[in-house]
Amino acid sequence: MNSKPRILIARAISPEVVSTLQQHFDVTANPEDVAWSPDELIDRLQGMDGVLTTGSQRIDAALLAACPQLKICANMAVGYNNFDVAAMTAAGVQGTNAPDVLTETTADFGFALLMATARRISESEHYLRAGLWKDWRYDLFAGTEVHGSTLGILGMGRIGQAIAKRGAFGFGMNVIYHNRSQLQPALEAECKARYVGKEELLQTADHLVLVLPYTPEAHHTIGAAEIALMKPTATLINIARGGIVDDAALAKALAARQIAAAGLDVFEGEPAVHPDLLEVPNVVLTPHIASATAPTRLAMAQLAADNLIAYLGGKAPVTPVNQ
Ligand code: DGY
Repeated sequence: MNSKPRILIARAISPEVVSTLQQHFDVTANPEDVAWSPDELIDRLQGMDGVLTTGSQRIDAALLAACPQLKICANMAVGYNNFDVAAMTAAGVQGTNAPDVLTETTADFGFALLMATARRISESEHYLRAGLWKDWRYDLFAGTEVHGSTLGILGMGRIGQAIAKRGAFGFGMNVIYHNRSQLQPALEAECKARYVGKEELLQTADHLVLVLPYTPEAHHTIGAAEIALMKPTATLINIARGGIVDDAALAKALAARQIAAAGLDVFEGEPAVHPDLLEVPNVVLTPHIASATAPTRLAMAQLAADNLIAYLGGKAPVTPVNQ
């Protein structure tokens, strides 16, 4: 009798999805749900045919060389900058991601972060909790207007488009975007969004939302020079990946009120956060939770599982990132 393929689940996921996987595979899960070091991950991957990763486990040439039996890495995330796709392809290892199922949820969060940042929700809650609220004041936590303002989107993939629609149709915003390539006119009309150059985007946006994928070319797309082009009243929202923004330069600009505020869900070197960001009041900080609702996390885990089941069952993966 053929034994089942062996898979590793790198972090805790829904027991429901674990049970589904157990019907197909010999499953090893991460019992304490701890973040393994690269060496620990290599140790755990010995003898495994597949792995379900969460976006925090780096799959690179060194790991692949040490795990020659590995056939598939299924990321439970739409972003897959934790994969060295070229090394995976060279090693004959399939990579998959989890697109689509998180688009609307992530766009909701991007908008929530935009609203919280523009309307100074975290800052004012801290003030209230600290017992500092003594009376009504004309300019108490006066923020930045959202409705009718100009929403800039950098990276107009699925999530960017979903944010554009929220801004245009929900808040009457004037939506501009910049992307590697301009959308088809029909899609632009659907999103009520206008393509502009990157410089115009930076100079014109009242709220700039970053939703581009993190590639080596995207490193520090927003640094001191780009922030200097933004309006002093502008806000910057990053729900894409840490590393796209130069966090040190951003902290400096926020402290100097070069822009009004920022909302950050992702950080360079997370879970570490640049200490200077923790010192400035005009930034809303959240721990990489843009896709974190129970139904969406379940759908992401299910899609990763579907990819493992298909590929290790001899079928084409559902959402491949290398062919
Ligand atoms: C994604 O899907 O890329 C998210 O950042 C993971 O939570």
